[in-house]
Amino acid sequence: MIPIRNAAEIQKMREAGAALKEVFGVVAPLVAPGITTLELNAEIEKKIFSLGATAPCKGFEGYPAAACISVDDVVVHGIPSFRRLAEGEIVSVDIVLKLNGYCADATRTYAVGKVSDEKLRLIEVTRRCFFNGVSRIRAGARLGDAQSAIQLTAELAGYGVVRAMEGHGIGKNMHEEPSVPNHGHAGTGVLLKAGMCLAVEPMITMGDWRVKIDGDGWTCRTVDGSPAAHYENTVLVTADGCEILTE
Ligand code: MF3
Ligand code: CO
Repeated sequence: MIPIRNAAEIQKMREAGAALKEVFGVVAPLVAPGITTLELNAEIEKKIFSLGATAPCKGFEGYPAAACISVDDVVVHGIPSFRRLAEGEIVSVDIVLKLNGYCADATRTYAVGKVSDEKLRLIEVTRRCFFNGVSRIRAGARLGDAQSAIQLTAELAGYGVVRAMEGHGIGKNMHEEPSVPNHGHAGTGVLLKAGMCLAVEPMITMGDWRVKIDGDGWTCRTVDGSPAAHYENTVLVTADGCEILTE
């Protein structure tokens, strides 16, 4: 069953989204060569708690931190550590927060200092994958319409679409029905209805789309070592489109 949010719940989803935007407001200026991903995570946690929100990732199936911080070939679920960011790397910061019982989930990939044009293009195309995807979302459309737009955008640019990880419904819990893969066929899949809330999150690789999980059970990286980017927002399906709650 895919939850349909009523007006009061939608208001709470908007408030959670607005709070998460504030959290990203402190992240962007901190991303620079020299900061450890653990220091970055600490600032994120501090900001989340200062807003009266909680961090559902912390403790989720044993995950130890509020944020997932994924550098270069790490696609998602990078665990904050003493590793320092270095000039030329790209870093994806994925944060979920819960405020007054409702969750918001978003990710941005940042350039650390000056990075190659290839990496900048990967970040830009990943962002475009998200917007092309959600441009297909409205009540009455099929989820596959958005999935195929994401896939086409990535593959026409010469990039890989990660299959092993997917977007998801979101609301009272950070993961709800339905799954939102980043590949698929237009005209197929879940029939979208106004009031559904989805975390749409293209994970795009510069090379092969295959990924593997490290021995820590979390860190998900490309098999070929190519860099990956990630762009995610929580979106509300509406009668004539969608409202992006975390952009
Ligand atoms: N933001 C991630 C997602 O979209 C959640 C991270 S998994 C966790 O699924 F273990 F870190 F919580
Ligand atoms: Co997500």
